[in-house]
Amino acid sequence: MSLDVRTVPFASAPAYQRLGLEAFGMPPTPPPEPAPEEWPPAGGTPWGVWDGDELVARALVRSFTSWFHGSEVPTAGLAGVTVAAERRGEGALRPLLAAALADARARGAAVSTLYPSSAGIYRGLGYEVVGSYDDVRIPVAALASVRAPEGVRTRRATPADMPAVREVYRAWACAQNGPLTRTEDPFAMVADDMLGPGSGYTGVTVAVSTRPGSAGDVVGFMSWTRGAGHDRTNTVEVDDLVALTPDASRALWRVLGSFTAVAGFVEVATSGAWTGADPSRLVLPDHAGSVRSRPYMLRVLDVPLALGAARLPAITARVPFAVADPRTPDIAGAWTLEVSDGAVRVVADGAAPESSADRPTFTSAGLALSYAGAASAANLRLAGLLTGPSAYDAVWDALWRGRDVHVRDYF
Ligand SMILES: CC(C)(COP(=O)(O)OP(=O)(O)OC[C@H]1O[C@@H](n2cnc3c(N)ncnc32)[C@H](O)[C@@H]1OP(=O)(O)O)[C@@H](O)C(=O)NCCC(=O)NCCS
Repeated sequence: MSLDVRTVPFASAPAYQRLGLEAFGMPPTPPPEPAPEEWPPAGGTPWGVWDGDELVARALVRSFTSWFHGSEVPTAGLAGVTVAAERRGEGALRPLLAAALADARARGAAVSTLYPSSAGIYRGLGYEVVGSYDDVRIPVAALASVRAPEGVRTRRATPADMPAVREVYRAWACAQNGPLTRTEDPFAMVADDMLGPGSGYTGVTVAVSTRPGSAGDVVGFMSWTRGAGHDRTNTVEVDDLVALTPDASRALWRVLGSFTAVAGFVEVATSGAWTGADPSRLVLPDHAGSVRSRPYMLRVLDVPLALGAARLPAITARVPFAVADPRTPDIAGAWTLEVSDGAVRVVADGAAPESSADRPTFTSAGLALSYAGAASAANLRLAGLLTGPSAYDAVWDALWRGRDVHVRDYF
């Protein structure tokens, strides 16, 4: 079998769409075929694998930007990965993703991320689970005892609040590892999408400071959908609950708690369900709730670009390291990380060493977990994802473990 991997032209858009529907679910009424002006999808590059005239596999690479270590990192978001049912297990996946990721790297992507249907599919390609997008379902009754906020009131957002809402999101997101900057389709925070009739939200609520000196400042926001019905089987859905102060968090939770007589649950899209929980959830008096988690996987595409962009703690350190992994020869190499008062340089030391005896050596998964700040060097060693001398482990952890992993946008 000779497979041909290339980007998908408009002529193949129907076949591309059909493969996606077959894999991820056929709606009772099939969606219309893509129109020429909708191709390629905004912000995305569709890739396909052909066997002769037959499209046998497809994937979409989305151009995103994510926050990692205080820096905006170009990110290839992988979505809609599918091999035709009859052609699975024939090896179409690896050349598809190799070509798509090489192209993304050539366009400047430093990392790639995705939500897997099964993590095993992507481990062989160097991705590892570094966090999760979690729908947390909380009984409304559990919100009744959230303490009354001080110095904050709530009101419905208007288009004039959008710059402040975006700023709240940015202030939260840039302190985490992982969230999208929401400056690109389809997650750009624009007034029409959030507040317009087509938004699907019942409303966006803002928490506003009443304290002298900051009175009127937006310090949190929440986008929510009321849903139908008015008994305690109903659920109020919350897409975002982002707050910059504990009182703003309390104020927003109390708005949700006020539905106690007419709704049974709130379901909040969040991340870090139980460990490294989002700060807004730390004000809740009870952990009551259940969680549906969607793992988020990361792979580094360009080691010097990703690590070199980080804004690290203001310490001075020099750490030799290497990446060696038979599954990801594209990122193999040896470098020295030079950090001086937080400024980072990643200096190339040549090819990956034959043995890891002379310097800490990561697998691709180990590097992903470590870069995301999601695992300690000690635990990477227990999992076989980091080998070589351990003398630098404490300083490596001090450099990379300072931020929690959070994600908010499912693609
Ligand atoms: C997932 C899918 C794209 C894999 O394509 P495929 O041709 O079956 O893949 P391959 O046989 O080449 O396997 C590639 C790797 O994935 C692993 N894999 C495949 N299906 C898997 C599954 N369901 N669970 C765990 N691992 C899986 C294989 O073991 C192999 O691992 P390796 O590289 O370490 O050897 C295909 O089965 C499919 O289209 N499934 C339905 C849609 C879907 O789940 N897409 C993924 C969305 S994130």
